[in-house]
Amino acid sequence: MYKIFGSKEVFNDTLEELSPIKLKKFHNKKTKSFGEGENSIKIACISDTHSLQNRINISECDLLISCGDLINYSEGERQMKSFSNWFESINCKNKIIVPGNHDKYLEKNKSKFKQFFPTSHYLEYNSLKLEEYNILIYGAPCTLRRNLFYFGNAYSLPGDQMKKEWEKIPDNTDILVTHVPPYDVLDTTYKNKHVGSKLLRNEICNRIQPKIHIFGHNHDSELSFALGEFKNGNKCLFVNACVLNDFKPTIIEYKY
Ligand SMILES: [Fe+2]
Repeated sequence: MYKIFGSKEVFNDTLEELSPIKLKKFHNKKTKSFGEGENSIKIACISDTHSLQNRINISECDLLISCGDLINYSEGERQMKSFSNWFESINCKNKIIVPGNHDKYLEKNKSKFKQFFPTSHYLEYNSLKLEEYNILIYGAPCTLRRNLFYFGNAYSLPGDQMKKEWEKIPDNTDILVTHVPPYDVLDTTYKNKHVGSKLLRNEICNRIQPKIHIFGHNHDSELSFALGEFKNGNKCLFVNACVLNDFKPTIIEYKY
């Protein structure tokens, strides 16, 4: 546990013991096929657009997921409208938004979500079942709250409350969408700092074991995919969907 100067918050995402994951990383790939079933779904993932969405092209897909930081914390209605016009225009029948720590505008105007995004789903600690594919998706926007002088604190929580949110993620989640990565999984910044959550990593390894975990928040990961194997042999495809390196979506062909 440590205290940030100037803040009365105590953060406690400082677990010493990390649950093991064997990771296989894939270099320079933005598209990956995963799973062994007879059915398939094409998932396009984006994160951390930060109002630069017009540089991104997304071709037809079955499911489009944004993991947050749609705009920037200081921006307002005009930028949100511009993002929503772009997002709503994409040819995809299932669209999901899980916000991030820069989505202050959305946090303050949740009631307007359907005005901005009439054909999209907003996930804030809840699930969406895609009946057509029999896939359960859960979205959790929280990040660890930083000090009082940091403004990008939308949807942020102190460590103990964040732990409770991770513990509420249903066991039967197929696709987990969070803004933050799990610790030490595609979460290293150019300063060699980890921005992922240790508590989330352990919850994923020990209990949830989703098939796919999609996130963003770390803008510096050179890689988009890592295939994780848990202690019991179950596998999970981890996806850092940040678009800021190349302004391309990350595409998963999921066979289930
Ligand atoms: Fe971001």
